[in-house]
Amino acid sequence: MLAHLRPNIRAMAGYVPGEQPRDGAYIKLNTNENPYPPSPRVLAAIQAALGPQLRKYPDPLGTEFRQTAGRVLGIDPDSILIGNGSDDVLTIVTRAFVPEGGLVVSPSPSYVLYRSLAEIQGARFISVPFTPDWRLPRPWPVRNANLTFLANPNSPSGTHLTLAELGPWVAELGGPVVLDEAYVDFADSHGLELVGRFPVIVTRTLSKSYSLAGIRFGFAVADPAVVRELVKVKDSYNCDALSLAAAQAALEDQPYRLQTRARILATRTRLASALQHLGFEVSPSQANFVWARRFDRPVRPIYEELKRRRILVRYMQYEGYGDGLRITVGTDEEIDQLLAALHQIV
Ligand SMILES: Cc1ncc(COP(=O)(O)O)c(C=O)c1O
Repeated sequence: MLAHLRPNIRAMAGYVPGEQPRDGAYIKLNTNENPYPPSPRVLAAIQAALGPQLRKYPDPLGTEFRQTAGRVLGIDPDSILIGNGSDDVLTIVTRAFVPEGGLVVSPSPSYVLYRSLAEIQGARFISVPFTPDWRLPRPWPVRNANLTFLANPNSPSGTHLTLAELGPWVAELGGPVVLDEAYVDFADSHGLELVGRFPVIVTRTLSKSYSLAGIRFGFAVADPAVVRELVKVKDSYNCDALSLAAAQAALEDQPYRLQTRARILATRTRLASALQHLGFEVSPSQANFVWARRFDRPVRPIYEELKRRRILVRYMQYEGYGDGLRITVGTDEEIDQLLAALHQIV
């Protein structure tokens, strides 16, 4: 049986998501979940959607969600494609744009899934190192890619590129670009205005800023003509009735999102400066996590000791770059406990 698999599937390592311990006994700062619960309006919308109507298929295009999102974001609802988390949207876009033997490019270090998506597709993947201060090297060295991914804010660094930097880069590339804005709600600006002006697809998720990682909902924003093509590639019912109801209610409650955002940004500032005092180098973050490195001692033992104390952060290592700890901004209490533990460890 295995011999019949496509060789690229057998050859690839496969994306490994961050640990999701089932026993709940951890302070969990490893997968950039929001430490605050979803809006009460989301929970009410899910309750209301629970009923005999679940026997019916959901709206394949998520029309009501798209109308709400269009209104909230000030964009054409027809420019929105719904997905089962933004990972689903990234998969749909890769399947639509990248042929077998094609080329996928991303700056590095960045979201490791981009490489996996290329490998599943049987495409080549080239990573272009960020400059030491997390900017894009110019001139950009790879032309003619079938798809170039840019996470902005980037993971693991949390750093963010402004529209003034993105515009000329996208223009220089010429080819299709996915601007992965999973963390953009924690940043100062976004790139939606590039859609339509350039061959850009923006992807968003409700997992982070809307506290809905457990629901799985994301979306893409692209030229409506491109969205119509992407719809051909997606599963017919890629978003279920409960997630559609939850996502719509979440977008409708912008005051709640802004309130949790403000708390996370305040904690982020405090966390970054405390880590610096403890001897970590921390890149300027516009996301809901920080990237902390050390050059006087290895960080892996720090990650392990934190884990032994039931505090999970993400240890990450990148070829040709080195390693570091990506730490999600938790509640103030969680961050106090993390910092107390780090005081003892380092
Ligand atoms: C850069 C980036 N993009 C996309 C995602 C996927 O988010 P989701 O599939 O939960 O929408 C993540 C998740 O951690 C991420 O870090």
